[in-house]
Amino acid sequence: MAARAGADPEARPHWSGQMGFVLSAIGSAVGLGNLWRFPAVAYENGGGAFLIPYLVAFFTAGVPILWLDYAIGHRYRGSPPLALRRIQRRFEALGWFQVGLNVLISLFYAALLAWSASYFVFAFTRRWGADTETFFYDTYLRRPAGAGFNLDFVPATAGPLALVWLAVIVIIALGVRRGVERANVVFIPLLTVAFVLLVGRSMYLPGAETGLDALFTPNLHRLLEPSIWIAAYGQIFFTLSISYGIMMTYSSYRRRKANQTTTGLVVALANGSFEMLAGIGVFCALGFMAAKEGSPIDHLVGDSGAGLAFITYPRVVSEMPSSAFFGVVFFGSMFMAGFTSLLSNVQVVVASAQDKFNLSARQAALFVCGPMAVFSLLLFGTTSAFYTLDVMDHWVNNVGIVVSAVALSVLVVWVARKGRELTYHLTVLSTLSVGRIWRSFAGTFGPFVLVVWLVQWLYSTYANGYHSYPRWFLIADGWGAIAVCGLVGVVFTVLPWRSQPDDFTPWPEFSPQVAQRLAHWEDTLLDLSADDPFEAGEK
Ligand code: ALA
Repeated sequence: MAARAGADPEARPHWSGQMGFVLSAIGSAVGLGNLWRFPAVAYENGGGAFLIPYLVAFFTAGVPILWLDYAIGHRYRGSPPLALRRIQRRFEALGWFQVGLNVLISLFYAALLAWSASYFVFAFTRRWGADTETFFYDTYLRRPAGAGFNLDFVPATAGPLALVWLAVIVIIALGVRRGVERANVVFIPLLTVAFVLLVGRSMYLPGAETGLDALFTPNLHRLLEPSIWIAAYGQIFFTLSISYGIMMTYSSYRRRKANQTTTGLVVALANGSFEMLAGIGVFCALGFMAAKEGSPIDHLVGDSGAGLAFITYPRVVSEMPSSAFFGVVFFGSMFMAGFTSLLSNVQVVVASAQDKFNLSARQAALFVCGPMAVFSLLLFGTTSAFYTLDVMDHWVNNVGIVVSAVALSVLVVWVARKGRELTYHLTVLSTLSVGRIWRSFAGTFGPFVLVVWLVQWLYSTYANGYHSYPRWFLIADGWGAIAVCGLVGVVFTVLPWRSQPDDFTPWPEFSPQVAQRLAHWEDTLLDLSADDPFEAGEK
């Protein structure tokens, strides 16, 4: 039966249990950001010293806002438009803005997966040859000389892209438990094994220690630079997939009794461990290459985007002993990590359409994912894909997600004043209690840091542009993408609901007795985990 948004909470699909949820949430968080973004960002921002701002950002913004997402999604049981509308009607628009962000991210994330799948195949024969840069830009992507849009299809990229979308449509049509959860239950353990093998083997490469020195030697004096702290907060938001609807949607599929804070910590720590492993693996490989060439490691790191994965790493792989192993496992891991993140982006869009228009999973897969696949092919199956992807990714991550995060905290905590209610929600359900400190980080400190980040980003982009792209292209592709999300926010809010969004009671329904104890909780620090007001819970 379809997932319906009406009064009956049992009509909403559920994860099979806590493990299914945790694996799926890890699947969403662990993505391309872990594999290629973290190592380069850490290296550029002080090496070992970066771990200090990273950990501070993790505990002061990452985990608190992850818990905020969980609390909203679970208490108000809905995709972002539905859950936020249930807090206050006019907040629905922010939910649709988040849906817009997920649509755009899915369109280009699918293209990155198609490239990873191609490179997985190329790795068997090292088809990229000696000049990996020319191969990537000219032979594979057939990138034209200047930025722009065109409809010249590239079969080598459009073919795998169509296959990625086909796989997404099939999995989404199977539903949350039989499709999304099963894919994560298969891919995440497989990814863990592949990754541990890859990193373990990389540590035995000659020269690996040079790479590890480069990554971990702390430049403590750099901690005084604000840009390092800003980079750490940016990385945490991107990598944990927070504040743009994913964790809210995933949490809405949990059962009534579901430990919130502890599972959040498990997901965040697992994601952090993948990041550390990726850093170690990539830098061992770079250390090997630097030792072989007798050159410093700096010039190998390149930029933190596609360059490290599709240009530098293949070049290093070609020089390695057992090179097919390294190439195949690296690109296979990249595909698995990215695919589970893509599923989470698409699920936000599908769940929102299901909630508002009362669609079954199959209908949503067809009517929502079908058009997304077509747009993805038009924008990213063509020769202009690289430029479009580079700019759209940059704007969506730096402006879209940041605006969404600030709006979410301010609207929920300050305008609707739901901070206290959500504190109780997290506490009554979890083994780890939260209180005022959590509210200050999720509602005040987190948004404050993000506003600082945004102002700095706007200033530097205004002053320096981005990668010397023409201004018209940045306006059309970057600001245009943000405008599309805003438009989605307005148009879909205005459309009428085909379900009963307001026929609903928040979970858990605090009894007068529990509510009274909760009211005293923050002063008396009662252990509420002993209370068990719910019969049905996750296994
Ligand atoms: N959190 C996902 C990543 O790191 C999106 O790539």
